[in-house]
Amino acid sequence: MEDEIPVLRSRRIQIKTPEQIVRMRAAGLVVARTLETVRAAVKPGVSTAELDALAEQTIREAGAIPSFKGYHGYPATLCTSVNDQVVHAIPSPDQVLADGDLISIDCGAILDGWHGDAAITVPVGTISDELQAMIKAAEDAMWAGIAAARAGGRLTDISHAVETSIRRSGRYGIVEGYGGHGIGTEMHQEPHVLNYGRPGRGPRLVPGMALAIEPMITRGSPEVVELDDGWTVVTLDGEVAVHVEHSVAICPDGVWVLTALDGGRERLGDLVTAQAWE
Ligand code: MF3
Ligand code: CO
Repeated sequence: MEDEIPVLRSRRIQIKTPEQIVRMRAAGLVVARTLETVRAAVKPGVSTAELDALAEQTIREAGAIPSFKGYHGYPATLCTSVNDQVVHAIPSPDQVLADGDLISIDCGAILDGWHGDAAITVPVGTISDELQAMIKAAEDAMWAGIAAARAGGRLTDISHAVETSIRRSGRYGIVEGYGGHGIGTEMHQEPHVLNYGRPGRGPRLVPGMALAIEPMITRGSPEVVELDDGWTVVTLDGEVAVHVEHSVAICPDGVWVLTALDGGRERLGDLVTAQAWE
C-alpha cells in the first residue's frame, strides 16, 4: 500500500492525495471525539486506567483501532501524563486524579489504515491561575506552529513559531528530546518537528504533507528523564509539564487541523481550509 503513495524521495516524507487527506480527517475526528469524551470524564477520584478504558471503547465503537496499544509494546490506548509526567505515562488503576492536578491526555487512532494523533492538557477540579496560564501558553504555541505550517514555507518555520510563542508567554522550559512528526499510514513518520529553532530550514512544506505538532513545556528546567518502565517521561526537577498536540494537513490554500472538531476554524480563521482541495 505504501509504495502507491508518493514520497519526497530524498526526505522520505509521505505526500497524500486530497482523497487520502479526507480519510485522515475521518481518523482525526475519531481522535477529536474521543478526547472530548475523555475530557468530560476527568474529575477528582477518577483513575487514569478508567480514562483509558473509556477511550478504547469510544475508539472501537467508531470502528477504529487504538494506535498506541502494541506500539513498540506500549500497553494502553492513551498516554495519561499527570503533573511532572511530561509524555508517554501509562494509565494505571493506582493513579487516581486529585483536585489541582494537570493531566495531558494523548490519543491516537487508526481508521481505514490512516492515523490521527492529538493531545490535550486538562485541569482536574480547580487549578491555580499560574497553571491555567501554562496550559494557554502551550496551546497558543501549538496554534502558532499550526499557523506557520504553510505550503511554500519550510519545516522549521513551524519550530520557530512554536518557540517564539512560548518565549512570549513566559519563562517556560522547552523540552528538547521529543517533538512532532510526520503522520499518515504510520503514526510516526519523517520529518521530526522540533519545538524550537531558526526559521527557513528543513524540507519545503507542500500540499499533502501531514504533521503532528506537539509542544511540551515545563515550569522549571527543561531537563527530562525516562523512568524504568521504559515509557514515562518526567521532569528531572519534579516541576509540572504541559503537552498538547494536533495532527494537521498542509493544503494549497491553508492548513486543515485534522484532529480539531472544527478543523481549526475558530483559532485560525482564514488560515484554515477545512476541506481537501480539488
Ligand atoms: N502522541 C505520541 C507521540 O506523538 C504518541 C505516544 S506513542 C506510544 O509521540 F508509544 F505511546 F504509543
Ligand atoms: Co504525536
